[in-house]
Amino acid sequence: MTPVERGQDPEIIRVEHLTKVFGRGATAITAVDDVSLSIRRSEIFGILGPNGAGKSTLIRILTTLLTPTAGSARVAGFDLVREPGRIRSVIGVCPQAGTLDLELTARDNLEFYGHLVDYPRAELAGRIRELLAFAGLEDRAESVVATFSGGMRRRLEIVRAFIHRPLIIFLDEPTIGLDPEARHEVWEQVARLNAEKTTVILTTHYMDEAERLCDRVAFIDGGRLIALDTVERLLGLVPSGDLVEIRFDRITGDVVDRLRDDPRIGFLEVREGTIALRALNGGRLVPALLGVFEEAGLAVTSLSVRTPSLEDLFIYLTGKEFGAGAATNADSTGAGRES
Ligand SMILES: Nc1ncnc2c1ncn2[C@@H]1O[C@H](COP(=O)(O)OP(=O)(O)OP(=O)(O)O)[C@@H](O)[C@H]1O
Ligand SMILES: [Mg+2]
Repeated sequence: MTPVERGQDPEIIRVEHLTKVFGRGATAITAVDDVSLSIRRSEIFGILGPNGAGKSTLIRILTTLLTPTAGSARVAGFDLVREPGRIRSVIGVCPQAGTLDLELTARDNLEFYGHLVDYPRAELAGRIRELLAFAGLEDRAESVVATFSGGMRRRLEIVRAFIHRPLIIFLDEPTIGLDPEARHEVWEQVARLNAEKTTVILTTHYMDEAERLCDRVAFIDGGRLIALDTVERLLGLVPSGDLVEIRFDRITGDVVDRLRDDPRIGFLEVREGTIALRALNGGRLVPALLGVFEEAGLAVTSLSVRTPSLEDLFIYLTGKEFGAGAATNADSTGAGRES
């Protein structure tokens, strides 16, 4: 289903002017600042933002673990403050810090959780078999989780949250600390959950994760919602267009001046045998560029056109870098934080 078709899906979450302030007075921190948004049934909705943006706090509020300071929200039609029990019965949650019992086997972890959510006992063993297969962990069912890789743990934790077939599943940083292959496996798992019509809400500070997986993305910075749309439309907000990089053996003559005079080129930078420029539809400009270089007698050694990324958008919207290492997968887990 395309995001546009999803546009006709009914709303499953409505958040209105939600605010969460921790502490008081001079040291108060506004972790979520007047956020309003609406999430549609069966979409994969990403909450994207740098460390400390307020993503986990927003998830914790929507999953009834924290009460908001102000504002309101309805989750699957139930009021956050008045009907938290009803909400809990229709959601699945996979928190940022892992919560599996490492001493227990994969099967026992699922069984324990099944009892916790009051899954019908007679059907539990069958459901657990299904979930282990879904996570690709059938042959590790009797192994203690302590012996699992990070990716296997995450896959197990995600299916655990799915045990009671929730309408909505919340995944807080589902791939944090995982290697690229394990991340891909988690993405596939999320897509398959979503194929069963489950609404998936995930937080991430990986731009590529949001681009690959999400139908729509909410950008959060300093607790505030700074943009919300499909990835495609968000990328269209970046005004500077595609980044074209051309490498030469050496750059001579007035070629740079000629390019600077070209009205189609928005921005141009020269460094160490490379010309980097930005232009709308950069790909279409390539033949003209090559013509200019040929006329000037310059030998092009390589040329690349890169369309804007969500990272470019973040920089455009906030005027600051997304954060060191934020777009890569090189940071630690978020374990240990408590609220
Ligand atoms: N229980 C708490 N008490 C005080 N401050 C808190 C608490 N929980 C979160 N905060 C603060 O709220 C802000 C948002 O934190 P939050 O964990 O929601 O960010 P995040 O976007 O999930 O970050 P990360 O990407 O690192 O997981 C931070 O400044 C954090 O220090
Ligand atoms: Mg977080």
